[in-house]
Amino acid sequence: MTRLKILHHPDPRLRTKATPVDTFDDKLIEFSKNMLETMYAAPGIGLAATQVNVHKRIIVVDVSDTKSEAHTLINPALEPFGEKVRGEEGCLSVPEIYESVERFEQVHVKAQDIHGEPLEFTANGMLSICIQHECDHLEGKLFVDYLSSLKRGRITKKLRDQAKSFV
Ligand code: NI
Repeated sequence: MTRLKILHHPDPRLRTKATPVDTFDDKLIEFSKNMLETMYAAPGIGLAATQVNVHKRIIVVDVSDTKSEAHTLINPALEPFGEKVRGEEGCLSVPEIYESVERFEQVHVKAQDIHGEPLEFTANGMLSICIQHECDHLEGKLFVDYLSSLKRGRITKKLRDQAKSFV
């Protein structure tokens, strides 16, 4: 397995809208394994293909403590519902920044599995929030977009300065 390079905000490639997956082959299986490997190594609880510069509708999530509940969702479509809740979010593309974001508590998910078979389930709590966050990536959206422009501007500047200092 290969660890993939994760793009960091404000990389403009993170703003790309992903296109649907229509070929379910060994390459897709290999790629999704690499995504999981990359997510666990980071370490993180979710990763969208967008974040590794592949602009296809693929996300992986695992909110368990034991790395035992991996979900690989292809072409996910969401129907969020229920109460709105606030929680701290972070993102592997926005390193070391944690901010409060409001989202729906529950989400109904329709997607395909890695073989192209349809799957459907309802998620609550952390899993629900994580799936909503990862699906935003497929639309080119980041959690910092929910913050005030002042706060977002500070975060963008901080990460841009950090990136420069690594050059
Ligand atoms: Ni993220």
